[in-house]
Amino acid sequence: MRVFVAGGSGVLGRRLVPQLVARGHQVTATTTTAAKLGLLTQLGAEGVVMDGLDASAVGGAVAAARPDVIVHQMTAISMTHAGKPDIKHPDRWFAQTNRLRTEGTDHLLAAAETTGVPHFVAQAYASWNGIRQGGWVKTEEDPLDLLPGTAAHAGLLAMRHVEESVVQVGGAVLRYGAFYGPGAIDDQVELVRKRQYPLVGAANGYSSWVHLDDAASATVLAVEQKARGVFNIVDDEPAPANEWLPFLAECAGAKRPMRVPRWLARLLAGDQAVIMMTEGRGFSNAKAKRELGWTLRYPSWRQGFRAELA
Ligand SMILES: NC(=O)c1ccc[n+]([C@@H]2O[C@H](COP(=O)([O-])OP(=O)(O)OC[C@H]3O[C@@H](n4cnc5c(N)ncnc54)[C@H](OP(=O)(O)O)[C@@H]3O)[C@@H](O)[C@H]2O)c1
Repeated sequence: MRVFVAGGSGVLGRRLVPQLVARGHQVTATTTTAAKLGLLTQLGAEGVVMDGLDASAVGGAVAAARPDVIVHQMTAISMTHAGKPDIKHPDRWFAQTNRLRTEGTDHLLAAAETTGVPHFVAQAYASWNGIRQGGWVKTEEDPLDLLPGTAAHAGLLAMRHVEESVVQVGGAVLRYGAFYGPGAIDDQVELVRKRQYPLVGAANGYSSWVHLDDAASATVLAVEQKARGVFNIVDDEPAPANEWLPFLAECAGAKRPMRVPRWLARLLAGDQAVIMMTEGRGFSNAKAKRELGWTLRYPSWRQGFRAELA
């Protein structure tokens, strides 16, 4: 297949492009900077410079590639695009990412329609953001939590825009868990090593994780099978912060994380961090396994953290 990966040079794109190429697909991958074209060539793709917020650039790049499928992996979370991570103000930290998830999605969908691209696959998110009612582990049938009244709300609305617009055209929405793997959590590991990533309260809120290579293999399956609808792409073991964070610290050779009360965490890190750590809901991958036939290299973050951080 001819596959157009918008955002092919990011942490996931760098693992996804080689898997697509190894399966015999012809890949066009985008970056915003000519400096990364060489990287994309090394990964086996044809590299293209494209600003996802420029409708005519997006239209031109998609028309030139004439792909069978567009895979939307554009985010601007890295230091280069967003500056220092600001967990207390996700609306600021994710401002550009939110535009890529709203305007950027619309530009790609418009380009798909104009060029006649029959399939679309997009990145969404399912780590701790399941509705905060009932059980700790959610399926695709359960609503997501939009955290109204918090600084996270704008980002979660942007994500909903991706989901609704892509499902509407018969595409696939891949709700990835929190990524780990090469380059994905360097900033978080640094905080853990400095003991600046504490447990909050009882830290019994759940999160789901996924290794980049497993997220990439699920994406290849969604592409090849022309999957439709929403899939949770998470590992087998959604877990509370009081399990995964001390284990992450141990794997990183760090001291055990400190514990802070909720009020202090809210003051220092804001609502999103407190909710994630104390009330978060994780996700089930049963649908992706059943419908896509997905198997994981790292069924649990327990094996994956150890392998990555050893
Ligand atoms: N995993 C987590 O949960 C997590 C949490 C916090 C922080 N982080 C940090 O976030 C970083 C993620 O890095 P990343 O490189 O994958 O993400 P990224 O820099 O946000 O980039 C993802 C992709 O989107 C592209 N892109 C960015 N702006 C664009 C635009 N305006 N138009 C079109 N494409 C655009 C990038 O291209 P370019 O080649 O132009 O960059 C890249 O291909 C890591 O450093 C990680 O430490 C991760």
